Amino acid sequence: MNPTPQIPVNAPFNEAQRLWLNGYIAGIISQANSESNPSESSKNKIKQRIPIVFASQSGNSQSLAEQFGDELEKSGFETPVFGAEEYENFDLTKEEFLLIISSTWGDGDPPDNAVDFWNHINSENHPRLEKLQYSVLGLGDKNYLHFCAMGEKFDKRLEELGAKRLTPRGECDVDYEETAEDWFNGVLKKLDTSIKKETTKANTDGYSKKNPFPAKVILNKNLNEQESQKQTHHVEFDLSGSNLSYEAGDVLGIYPTNDPELINELITNLNFDPDELVDDKKLKETLLHDYDIRNLTKDFVLSWFDKSSSEALGQIINNSSLEEYVAGREIIDLVVDYPVSFSEPKQFLSLLRKLSPRLYSISSSPNANIDEVHITVAKVSYESHGRSRNGVCSAYLADRCNKNDTANVFLQSSKHFKLPQDSSIPIIMVGPGTGIAPFRAFLQEREFLKPFGKNWLFFGNPHEGTDFLYKQELMAFKNKGILSKLSTAWSRDQENKIYVQDVMAQEGKEIWNWLNEGAYFYVCGDAKYMAKDVDSCLHKIIDEHGKINSESYIKEMKKEKRYQRDVY
Ligand SMILES: Cc1cc2nc3c(=O)[nH]c(=O)nc-3n(C[C@H](O)[C@H](O)[C@H](O)COP(=O)(O)OP(=O)(O)OC[C@H]3O[C@@H](n4cnc5c(N)ncnc54)[C@H](O)[C@@H]3O)c2cc1C
Ligand SMILES: Cc1cc2nc3c(=O)[nH]c(=O)nc-3n(C[C@H](O)[C@H](O)[C@H](O)COP(=O)(O)O)c2cc1C
Repeated sequence: MNPTPQIPVNAPFNEAQRLWLNGYIAGIISQANSESNPSESSKNKIKQRIPIVFASQSGNSQSLAEQFGDELEKSGFETPVFGAEEYENFDLTKEEFLLIISSTWGDGDPPDNAVDFWNHINSENHPRLEKLQYSVLGLGDKNYLHFCAMGEKFDKRLEELGAKRLTPRGECDVDYEETAEDWFNGVLKKLDTSIKKETTKANTDGYSKKNPFPAKVILNKNLNEQESQKQTHHVEFDLSGSNLSYEAGDVLGIYPTNDPELINELITNLNFDPDELVDDKKLKETLLHDYDIRNLTKDFVLSWFDKSSSEALGQIINNSSLEEYVAGREIIDLVVDYPVSFSEPKQFLSLLRKLSPRLYSISSSPNANIDEVHITVAKVSYESHGRSRNGVCSAYLADRCNKNDTANVFLQSSKHFKLPQDSSIPIIMVGPGTGIAPFRAFLQEREFLKPFGKNWLFFGNPHEGTDFLYKQELMAFKNKGILSKLSTAWSRDQENKIYVQDVMAQEGKEIWNWLNEGAYFYVCGDAKYMAKDVDSCLHKIIDEHGKINSESYIKEMKKEKRYQRDVY
């Protein structure tokens, strides 16, 4: 932009006249500029502040918050995006608007980063929020009993506190993008903005969840011995040419394909022709890539009943035994047990959910494995109601993803699960089973980051002889002094079951010493039992050996990001 013209110092005016004239000219030019360029004038306006708070464990709510934050900023609003753990940095009593995007974890619980925020907002003495207008978007999974429970809780609590709901709450199932966009569009409309949202184009921003990268499989091997009850696959993918990057602690998303045998069984039972075209795609291809043909939801059973009118199924629904019925059953059970005749495959497809990608903690450090990404996958397989069943993605990875095949992948950053910036800080890692994955990455990264602080790993699995994942590598880390301590729990090698939390308790004093030196504490793996047991063990260790209140100590650890979890 041209500088504003100034009255020359040698012009026939005194200093006061010259300053006044300069100001006058600047004023006229500024007005003319703003009239000819309204966007310039709007820059000077005070922007309406619309903060977004995300409560997120595996990053979905966070990425939506960041995406919507960007879009609101582009629409002329001031939109800071806060993680719920930062709740002390914003004051809801001073805000006019608030958007909350929250997932649900555990049994209807908040994600880790939002536990304190929820307790705060839900506390009896929380100030009233009459001035606030808000809207909540919940993320969840209809397979869980408490679907989107946290979205509902935040929504209700804000209403109780006197805040006004701007738009109805959004509730997203696993396939969340479209519902989230609809909710956001509703919010935008209500905010009275005429700005049209740019449509997101795949391909232009490189590889992403919407545009996954076809990564070649470099290696796929079972880490368990043959006699083991378990199958845990180490899978390596080639990322060269993708321009994708990640950090130790991030996760890899994978789009699976369905089991061809299950597809055949469905098609046969439904009397469809596998080669029939549905929207220019063969039915068998559509069923391979696009739909979840396995997981049975209560909604699916209700829709099925509409079509089948089976009395027996009606009884299950009327007797409130639906919950019990879906447990351990899949879509194929319904198709076989309560047949429905469809005039065209589209009718059946309309009942299905989209096949969603699964996330896996990355088990490699990018610095130690240029252009590669590794994951550690436990194959889900079990028997129920007389059938053997497999998890969609874990079985795809274990059984049908061979060397040189390609899999569609994307990277998702886990900002809440990262090594300390200062690599000399000691770390304690608790990762039984596939929980080992990010810690393999951490150890590789710490070796790369020399000099590194002390590293202590707690690992566990049923049997030392068959289930010691990455044994050679861990031993090598130990011999090189990278792994300062390795504590193992082999749950079934003796009569009494021993888990990682039991070994932690035995090492309580030493764990406290490490914490006292500033160690970071990481947990990865099973959320339902292990992470809870480890958490309560950590509380006991701090109470007993630190002789201080563990509740407030752990709260402080979380605030300082010294207690991080990647649990699922
Ligand atoms: C952030 C994050 C990180 C993760 N990291 C890893 C990782 O590093 N390694 C890893 O292996 N997984 C990891 N997971 C889990 C992974 O994403 C998948 O959920 C897992 O592989 C199962 O997916 P699937 O498609 O094979 O099974 P699905 O087809 O989704 O089936 C799983 C479902 O099967 C049912 N089921 C399972 N067992 C039984 C049983 N015994 N009886 C009855 N029903 C049963 C349950 O309903 C269960 O929800 C992670 C998840 C998250 C969110
Ligand atoms: C261990 C685990 C527990 C979950 N519990 C629930 C639940 O109780 N209710 C629900 O609706 N969704 C539940 N979900 C689904 C998540 O809310 C859903 O995957 C969401 O997209 C995650 O968003 P985030 O990445 O922002 O945390 C659970 C998922 C996992 C892996």
